Amino acid sequence: MIVLGIETTCDETSASVVERHTDGRGTILSNVVLSQIAEHTPYGGVVPEIAARAHVEQLDRITRQALSQAGHMFLSIDGVAAAAGPGLIGGVIVGLTTAKAIALVTKKPLVAVNHLEAHALTARLTHNVAFPYCLFLASGGHTQIVAVRGVGDYERIGTTLDDAIGEAFDKTAKLLGLPYPGGPHVEQMARRGDPHRFDLPRPLARRDNADFSLSGLKTAVRLAAESIAPLDKIDVADLCASFQQAIADTVFDRVRMGLAFFRVSHGTPTALVAAGGVAANFAIRRVLDFAAVEAGTRLIVPPPELCTDNGAMIAWAGAERLALGLTDGLDAAPRARWPLDETTKPPAAAAVGG
Ligand code: KG4
Ligand code: ZN
Repeated sequence: MIVLGIETTCDETSASVVERHTDGRGTILSNVVLSQIAEHTPYGGVVPEIAARAHVEQLDRITRQALSQAGHMFLSIDGVAAAAGPGLIGGVIVGLTTAKAIALVTKKPLVAVNHLEAHALTARLTHNVAFPYCLFLASGGHTQIVAVRGVGDYERIGTTLDDAIGEAFDKTAKLLGLPYPGGPHVEQMARRGDPHRFDLPRPLARRDNADFSLSGLKTAVRLAAESIAPLDKIDVADLCASFQQAIADTVFDRVRMGLAFFRVSHGTPTALVAAGGVAANFAIRRVLDFAAVEAGTRLIVPPPELCTDNGAMIAWAGAERLALGLTDGLDAAPRARWPLDETTKPPAAAAVGG
């Protein structure tokens, strides 16, 4: 089964062709990703209107490129999938409408994919992971711990009550005068800093749930920075190191709690899977590894280019749904908000065709 996937929910314009084999394994035939970082850098964050326009300008070309690199044409694919949310609505509309047009003209089935579901299922494409597994998704827009029980069968175990982890990295970077997106820069500076110099909070530590709250930590960094301003390079490095340590400790505590909840309802997970841009952070990976081993399982992190937003994960989620007969009508709505546990289960009634 050959599926074209389109991703436009944030600041990456991407199209990909993925093959799903009859044994359930997958192969990426192409994955073209165009980052808009340069367009957004002057503003220190993603500007929705600029993102939507850039998607409109680039998506046709990116889609053609993905097909030709895969050696396919519109008529040789078996379905087209697009991220229908959650995300910046202008971008979502661009990708979903493009996919609908392709589906209409080629008479191929459409799959309106939940972007979070695509992150959740990527480890099955890269590592053929069996259900049920525990997902830790941490990006600029999302922070969630999810029990992945099957395609369309998710239980959110924990989430952030305010900022996403990537957002906290980005805001801390901005505050300290580091470039956007901040995560990689904070990590780099943290290597040279003292993680114990500033006493920052570990929000919700040991609380009897698996939720996150990061806005207080962000404020604590700001107050610490203001108290010693003007900052020199060593101050910035120490603040980055102390911040990253606080985040890593928090992730360890919260994911550990999440894994304990997972075990009660579903037994030992086949894996702890990390996804999202933040999974690139080495300090965070280290604590995830500890948490996984302690819970009697293993940590799986897909390669960085598949952890961040990309079309292949959308194509793959589309293929997994298509294999179960789950398609969507041309009236599928773009959604700015779309919690993962609202993504419907496979039951026959949900499988409304084209
Ligand atoms: O998944 P992603 O590429 O895009 C979405 O937000 O959907 O994630 C980007 C986020 C940004 O907030 C970025 O600062 C963060 O991931 N990030 C990192 C690292 N690399 C990227 N955060 C911490 N450490 C990193 N090495
Ligand atoms: Zn994402």
